[in-house]
Amino acid sequence: ALVSLRELLDHAAEHGYGIPAFNVNNLEQVQAVMAAAAEVNAPVILQASAGARKYAGEAFIKHLVQAACEAYPQIPVVMHQDHGQSPAVCQGAIDLGFSSVMMDGSLLEDGKTPASFDYNVDVTRRVVEMAHRVGVSVEGELGCLGSLETGQAGEEDGIGAAGTLDHSQMLTDPEEAAQFVKATGLDALAIAIGTSHGAYKFTRPPTGDVLAIARVKEIHARIPNTHLVMHGSSSVPQELLAIINQYGGKIKETYGVPISEIQEAIRHGVRKVNIDTDIRLAMTGAARKFLAENPDKFDAREWLKPARAAAQAVCKQRYLDFGCEGMA
Ligand code: G3H
Ligand code: 13P
Ligand code: NA
Ligand code: ZN
Repeated sequence: ALVSLRELLDHAAEHGYGIPAFNVNNLEQVQAVMAAAAEVNAPVILQASAGARKYAGEAFIKHLVQAACEAYPQIPVVMHQDHGQSPAVCQGAIDLGFSSVMMDGSLLEDGKTPASFDYNVDVTRRVVEMAHRVGVSVEGELGCLGSLETGQAGEEDGIGAAGTLDHSQMLTDPEEAAQFVKATGLDALAIAIGTSHGAYKFTRPPTGDVLAIARVKEIHARIPNTHLVMHGSSSVPQELLAIINQYGGKIKETYGVPISEIQEAIRHGVRKVNIDTDIRLAMTGAARKFLAENPDKFDAREWLKPARAAAQAVCKQRYLDFGCEGMA
C-alpha cells in the first residue's frame, strides 16, 4: 500500500535502521526494487526525478507505482518526488498522487544556482503547508552537494549546483539546520557532507576530510528528532565498474560512498539513503555482458532480464546492509 515517507522514517528511527530510496524510471527498475524488497521483507521508497517523469511520462510513472502496490500488497511503498525544484513541481507531484515530495530549495529554480537561506525557508515552508494538508510528507535540503576534494559542485547528472562552491556551502551547518527545521516543519532533511550525484564522487577511497560522517553526528546531536537524508550515496562497487569495462565500457577510475560509512551515518540519524547510480551501473554491466556474449540475440527481454536481475541484487544488498530486513 502507498504510505507517507514520514510513516516509514518514523519506524526506521524507532528501530535504528535506514531505508534506501531508489530512483526509478521504467518497468524493470520498479520490478527490481519490489522483488528485492519482497525477498527480505523490506519497506520501499521509489523516487522519481523530474527527468524520470519526463522520460517515462507522468501517467506511466504513476501507474507503475500503482502496479507495484497492487503486485506486492504486503509491502509499504512511498512514491517520492526527488529534487523538486519549485513549489509548482511539488504541487504537480502531489496532484499526480505522490505520497512524498522533496522541495530542493538549496538551489534556485534553475537547479544550479545556490539559494539563500531565506529563499530556501520560504519555498520549503510553502510546500510543507500544501503537502501536510493532504497527508503528503516533505523532504527539504540544506547545503549543496559537491566535492570537498575538488571544490566542484555535483552537477554530473544535471541535478546539483554548477561550478565552484566554497567549503562551507558543501557542509551543512548544524545550527542553521536547527533553524531550518524549526522554520519549515519538514519531515526529513537532506544534508551536505561531501557526497555528489553520479559515478565520479571521489578519486580515491574517501577519508574523513572528503566524506564528513563526523558532520552527520554533529547535526544529529543538534536535531536528534529530525530524520536525515543522504543524497549521492551510491557505493560505486568496483566489481560493477569492472564488468562494464570488461565488456566494452569506458568508465574511469572512481570511488563511491563505502557501505560501512553509510552504516555509521545510519547509527547517527540518517534514515533515507538515495541511490540511483549503483542501479545504473548494475543494469548497464549486465546488459553489456549479455549482448557481448550473445551477439545473435535481439529480443529486448533477453538482455533486460539479466539487467533487471543485477539491479535486484544491488537493491537486496542495500536493504540488508541498511538493516531493513523484516521491517516491512
Ligand atoms: O538526483 C539525481 C538522480 O540521480 C536522478 O537523475 O535526473 O538523471 O533522473 P536524473
Ligand atoms: P547517486 O548518484 O549516488 O546514486 O545518488 C542519487 C541521488 O542522490 C538521487 O537524489
Ligand atoms: Na541540492
Ligand atoms: Zn539527490
